[in-house]
Amino acid sequence: MALDTTDLNRRMTHFDDHDDLWLFGYGSLIWKADFPYLERRPARIHGWVRRFWQGSHDHRGTPEAPGRVATLVAEPGAVCAGMAYRITPATLAPLDVREKNGYLREITPLQFDDGTTAKGLTYIATSDNAAFLGEADVDAMARQIAAAHGPSGPNTDYLLNLETALAELGVVEPHVSDLARRVRHVLPSPPDRQPV
Ligand code: SIN
Repeated sequence: MALDTTDLNRRMTHFDDHDDLWLFGYGSLIWKADFPYLERRPARIHGWVRRFWQGSHDHRGTPEAPGRVATLVAEPGAVCAGMAYRITPATLAPLDVREKNGYLREITPLQFDDGTTAKGLTYIATSDNAAFLGEADVDAMARQIAAAHGPSGPNTDYLLNLETALAELGVVEPHVSDLARRVRHVLPSPPDRQPV
């Protein structure tokens, strides 16, 4: 699949005639909601796990040195917690651009914390997209994240902001916290303060 998925996503007109829709965010869309929304609520989706298996050549890395960002990988029985935003269909156009590096709109059932459900949309980067990196040794993934930097900033910010946002939702996820711990370990420590 082509690296730039903007056009593919624009052809997915499923929600075009709706007044609003629920967008489920599980990565940067949890902690960087720089788009208009009508309401937001913690939510979860079933059958998917969050994994740092997607390459970022445009936000948290470069084509020469891609970073690693989150995608969802199908896993029967799994639950992925995140944040749902009620948005208007017009908000999808800029989101398609933000998520253009391999993510495709996917329609998915959402479950809110009070047990109610809704049909929603999430952006998933599947293993057949050109930017997919897949699984690697956890220390190698941590080193890649610690080193990568792109137009949106350091790759470490993405990971550590996600860890914080998940903690605020009451979610501790071994895949994320283990990577974050290893990234902190390889990051240079702040220089010692000189005595005044
Ligand atoms: C998401 O956050 O839901 C999609 C992946 C990302 O933009 O980090």
